[in-house]
Amino acid sequence: METETHKSLIRRVFSHLDAGTTDRAPDILRNPVGIYTDPGRFEAEMAGILRRKSLLAGLSGRLPGPGSFLAEDLTGVPVLLMRGEDGVARAFLNSCRHRGTRLLDGAGVVRRAFACPYHGWTYGVDGRLTGVPDQEAFEGADLADCSLAALPCTETDGMIWIRLSGGAPADPGESLDGLAAEFAGYALAGYHHYASHRMTPAINWKMALDTFMEPYHFAVLHKETVAPIFFPNLCLYDEFGESFREYLPRRSIVEMRGRPEAEWDAVWHSAIVYYLPPNAVFVMQQDHAEVWRIFPRDGRVDRTEVCLDLYIPEPATSDKARRHWDANLDLAVRTVENEDFAAAESAYAGFASGLAEEVVYGRNEPALQGLHRRIAAMMAGQ
Ligand code: FES
Ligand SMILES: [Fe+2]
Repeated sequence: METETHKSLIRRVFSHLDAGTTDRAPDILRNPVGIYTDPGRFEAEMAGILRRKSLLAGLSGRLPGPGSFLAEDLTGVPVLLMRGEDGVARAFLNSCRHRGTRLLDGAGVVRRAFACPYHGWTYGVDGRLTGVPDQEAFEGADLADCSLAALPCTETDGMIWIRLSGGAPADPGESLDGLAAEFAGYALAGYHHYASHRMTPAINWKMALDTFMEPYHFAVLHKETVAPIFFPNLCLYDEFGESFREYLPRRSIVEMRGRPEAEWDAVWHSAIVYYLPPNAVFVMQQDHAEVWRIFPRDGRVDRTEVCLDLYIPEPATSDKARRHWDANLDLAVRTVENEDFAAAESAYAGFASGLAEEVVYGRNEPALQGLHRRIAAMMAGQ
């Protein structure tokens, strides 16, 4: 982050603290609850957004070396991410070219090649078919064409992007837009994957995004968890084309008041929430990063899968380091899974009753408004 950005963010926070204010949108925004519950709208979002746009798959540290892989089902698409012997990250359909069986589960490392668990066809870590037991039996089939089906995958500045459909390459610019330089400044290529946690709330996928988009609820819903750390109802909101940055100051930021501006550190005294369209939230948390990836689950309008991946700047090699990162992960999970998603599930029950008509996003929830304006624009094909 540029020095001038540090200064201007902290100046804006101090001015809000002095005035008892927060960044505000010009007006309120209303949405019909159907945007969360309507199955037709949901199908259109799956086809028009989630299966079409470039998606953040993770930081480069998720595939730390040759043969590293990650197998995930994303909106019903079995995806195999894998780093080749040549160091290139690739994405494949996790489906054998013989009769379709899923090839790998979970995450790990394979040595050069791996075998299908059904009849033992083997593939190299670049996705090429390398062996077929009783190959004579397949005479007439062109096995040279039986590499795994590739999905678009692009790795740049320590981030891996994919698309869940063929054709055009995965384009980080769709999501990062005007933030590419700020992200490059975080040097994410040096980060290591520490742990992941999967959550399965019974809500619409956009409600999982909503939960990150305002600190208005901190004093009430999170009074025991993160309210002691952050200023409730105080955020800075800045748009960068398709993306935006929501700056949540920690209470510790007041320590900067007596220091020269040249020493101001806007990253250390905050959580910085970025919306990376269409379905990811990236949170810079002082010395580590959280990637929240959000997908509809089981093809349902009211089921969501949230993958939280925690990335850290150095490998955790001591018990002390592991205790530190475990505590960070635990706080994130307690806050979001136990508090935010519990509140969202209760809201979904009201929406699904058919009796609720609309929701309203306040002027003090500018990022929430920005999120829904962007989703509406994506749906309109802009
Ligand atoms: S389905 Fe994979 S080897 Fe037969
Ligand atoms: Fe929350």
